[in-house]
Amino acid sequence: MVQKALIPAAGYATRSLPATKAVPKEMLPLVDKPMIQYAVEEAVASGIKEVGIVTAAWKTAIGRHFGPNPELEAFLEKKGKGELLESVKKVERLAEFAFILQPEQRGLGHAISMGEEFAGGKPLAVLNPDTIYDGRVPCLRQLIDVFEEKRATTVVLGKIDREGTKKYGVVRAEKVSERVYRILDLIEKPGPEKAPSDMAVLGRYVFTTGIFDALRNTGPGYGGEIQITDAIGLLLKTESVYGVLFEGRHFDAGGNRGFLEATIHFARKRPDLSSLF
Ligand code: G1P
Repeated sequence: MVQKALIPAAGYATRSLPATKAVPKEMLPLVDKPMIQYAVEEAVASGIKEVGIVTAAWKTAIGRHFGPNPELEAFLEKKGKGELLESVKKVERLAEFAFILQPEQRGLGHAISMGEEFAGGKPLAVLNPDTIYDGRVPCLRQLIDVFEEKRATTVVLGKIDREGTKKYGVVRAEKVSERVYRILDLIEKPGPEKAPSDMAVLGRYVFTTGIFDALRNTGPGYGGEIQITDAIGLLLKTESVYGVLFEGRHFDAGGNRGFLEATIHFARKRPDLSSLF
């Protein structure tokens, strides 16, 4: 059973500056919920009980969001704003939270390696919080189902265009069944000439404990950072790795375009806002 999930949220989000100079990117709202809450809710809906958030010392807003706020709660109570009070308390109760400080920015692979103690020798799900999914079955659940069947590291795959080859980790893979692939190789941001296919890893992973050894043996890669893509490449030498083509909507909310698309998508689903469109 996969019960622990890690959310890497320590980065500077340079794609969204100056908005993210003082406010963590993960706290920017899609309609009225911070982006990171979507990732936590997806994890919880997929059966996760414990959520570890890798964060940076300046990003105190993330910890405050998932912790209690007694003054605000007392205020809402006094004003008789029961529904709002419930929405605030619900956030604290979503899961058991742990916060892990990443002292310096050394890439996604490094951030994930910070979660080894939190994982405690158990499988670990990872959700990139700027990747937003919406589907009938939560994205992470679709991965966990394959992880439990294959007993092997599983990642989410999505079709990408030419531009996508410069933004994502691109895979070479063989189809093993409807929507499930065996990964043969993967390259971080190869560009259109070197891309081995039109499928990329898009922000969700379920790892066996083997990933931590692989990360320990992974040196700096693309951009001089420790890349999770390279660590998965190393893991492939000793373990099988599978990919699942997600069924549903995907948004890369790390960039302005995807952020707006996700905002519009969730606003359209809201009865009080849908008439705007
Ligand atoms: C990271 C990973 C990359 C992956 C992408 C989307 O890149 O390194 O392999 O495809 O997330 O989840 P980043 O967006 O941090 O540049």
